[in-house]
Amino acid sequence: MNELLNWDIPFDRMERLALEGGLVQARVEQVEHEGLRAWRLLLTQRPRDAAKEGPAVQGVVRRQPEKKAESYLAEGLSPLVLGEEGLGWGGLELAFWGCPHREVPPVLRLLADGVPYPLLALSFPLGAARYLGLGERVGGLERRGGRYWNFTADQPPRPGRDPLYQASPLLLRVEGARAWGLLLDESYPSLFDLGYSHPAEARLAVAGPTLDLYLLEGSLLEVVAGLTRLTGRPPMPPLWALGYHQCRYSYADEASVREVVEQFAAHGLPLEAVWLDIHYMDGYKVFTASPQRFPRLALLAEELSDRGVRLVPIVDPGVKVEEGYSVFEEGMRRQAFIRDDRDELLVGGVWPRRAVWPDFSREEVRAFWAEEVEKFARTYGFAGIWNDMNEPAVLELGGAEPPDKALPLTARQGAKSHLEARNLYALGMAEATYRGLQALGRRPFILTRSGFPGIQRYAFVWTGDNESRYEDLALSVPMLLSLGLSGIPLAGSDVGGFGLDAEPELLLRWMWLGALYPFFRNHSALGTRRQEPYAFGEPWTTRMREALHFRYRLLPYLYSLARTAHEEGLPLLRPLGLYWPEDAAAWRDDQFLLGEALLAAPVLRKGARAREIYLPPGGWQDFWNGERLEGASLHRVAAPLERLPLFQRAGTAIPLTEARYPTRTARWPFLCFRVALGPKVRGRVFEDAGEGGDEGAWSELEGGFDGRRLELLFTDRSGHARQGVLAEVWGVAPPTRGQGYAYHNGLLRLDVQGGGAWVAWD
Ligand code: GLC
Repeated sequence: MNELLNWDIPFDRMERLALEGGLVQARVEQVEHEGLRAWRLLLTQRPRDAAKEGPAVQGVVRRQPEKKAESYLAEGLSPLVLGEEGLGWGGLELAFWGCPHREVPPVLRLLADGVPYPLLALSFPLGAARYLGLGERVGGLERRGGRYWNFTADQPPRPGRDPLYQASPLLLRVEGARAWGLLLDESYPSLFDLGYSHPAEARLAVAGPTLDLYLLEGSLLEVVAGLTRLTGRPPMPPLWALGYHQCRYSYADEASVREVVEQFAAHGLPLEAVWLDIHYMDGYKVFTASPQRFPRLALLAEELSDRGVRLVPIVDPGVKVEEGYSVFEEGMRRQAFIRDDRDELLVGGVWPRRAVWPDFSREEVRAFWAEEVEKFARTYGFAGIWNDMNEPAVLELGGAEPPDKALPLTARQGAKSHLEARNLYALGMAEATYRGLQALGRRPFILTRSGFPGIQRYAFVWTGDNESRYEDLALSVPMLLSLGLSGIPLAGSDVGGFGLDAEPELLLRWMWLGALYPFFRNHSALGTRRQEPYAFGEPWTTRMREALHFRYRLLPYLYSLARTAHEEGLPLLRPLGLYWPEDAAAWRDDQFLLGEALLAAPVLRKGARAREIYLPPGGWQDFWNGERLEGASLHRVAAPLERLPLFQRAGTAIPLTEARYPTRTARWPFLCFRVALGPKVRGRVFEDAGEGGDEGAWSELEGGFDGRRLELLFTDRSGHARQGVLAEVWGVAPPTRGQGYAYHNGLLRLDVQGGGAWVAWD
């Protein structure tokens, strides 16, 4: 375990900091961006930090607030009130702390460089609130009682482990219907202690010379969306990224890749991309292909693309040290690699036994990498790039595995130490990769393991090396929900589990859950049992196909939700508590909402054929048979192997299509809105080419049901010809009259293509 991460905040030996006339300089600003308003509080110890820009926050306008006596006032924000005890803001009392140098944990002293208070902290009473966020963590959604470090580490998600691959120094506090957001925009390692060392206090510390804090308040929905105003929102992904992906460590030659594609086709299983893990490379040299195992890689990519299947290769940051290898030589020529504190090239081992690491903190290095990415993707016709080991992970240094699998923290990255720049490594690499792919004129698709707030501007995230166990299946739910609340909406976990052997029932349950993940990729480790959806034969293959087909029917909804993430910053997977924050029963780790209309209750236990679910207040209906269920109560529902328990909120309409693949366009020729009746009915769908830069349009289904008459109106703004637009209502009696409808066995279909339709039960 990383030595750096065993530090605690020496709180009892820290000194209270005055925000005026004390040892630190405090600057207060109001920031604004597209309707978002927040406070920024910057504490600095060195004059040179006064103009500091954070690594995560982008594009905001900063304004000097009005200073009145002891308060800072700005329009639309609760005042910041300075008192002797600290700072009052929106009902929170924040106190600030500094640590005398002699009290700094030894591992952090390398920071000291003559600065009197190298550790800065803040505290506030935990109160009765709920705490959420902090990105990728093991455990449930609730963060109270734990302590959480923000320092990227090559650490797979296992019970009790922290931190993991991502660093996310942002916290949500929820009390009643109100929420607060605290974003610590510091790349230095930080610690969030939420009642771990003191039961009633939250203590946040950063091991750096500044404390750069953004404060937001509002409803939980507003704060979640607001945080992404600060850290950025994802670009629109290409449609295919939301389809099904098949990966393995490794499909190690061209014949294995072809075999996978053929098996998918032979079994009628949809497939968007086959992923190439490290064995496709020539001796683990990034941006190369093995001449023995992949002699005609470009041709293979072309052949597969004719069948609607893409290739996505892994690209790790470690560059092999080898004379004559152009990436290494060019990088050397441009002085692109990280050096140690004596200014010597830092050589360690990762997959290549001797490797060097590009310093992505520097613009010229990002430009160099972008060029390599562009050349590489162009040469082989790759559709996207998979960035792994980008914490960065180091497996060998000076003849041994470094205890924290990290580069020395004193290593130089431009003017910064690795201690300061480490958390941003994946962000810089993703930005460079994004630029490289953008040059090809398509929407870039990147998957990353490590990250920092803002990573969503470039990449999807996956949660790394889980295992084929029910515990990991269950853990993926709060992990992905937390990533979403923390600004990373497009994420997934390895479906089927990466390590250990999958068994068919587990894989099937995971395929159904994966069908609702924003990113749906099955991946497994070297030496484990094969777990492609056809690997276990019948009846499993047929059942897995059902899950896959369901994913493809859901694509219009998923794509519209990706658009919502792009436009509004809301995640695709949402905890029930996002809408019912005051309902204690709604805060669950084993259920979630996809968008606002679909509630999923995945089966997370071996052998289970039924499960308990909680439905929040309001009306709900069983997605599969239309059965009406009352909210604000627990229900026991059947959970057969054939499907995942799924419920639709009354008054919603979910756009579905036919399970057709390959997916070439998000202008759906056929649309079917699944309607759950309510006094008002609303649903919408976003459509564009699914690729490229056209603007696209939202079309809407609107209407209402007064208990006797159902009316629906479809406003089509897509501008393209369609084969049909239907609305479907399940579990109703045959109507007595109406216009443009058909009824069969409890299923009512209304043809809304030409605009509207209605039915009545007199
Ligand atoms: C890491 C990744 C995993 C990958 C493996 C080999 O463990 O997390 O997904 O398959 O490296 O590249």
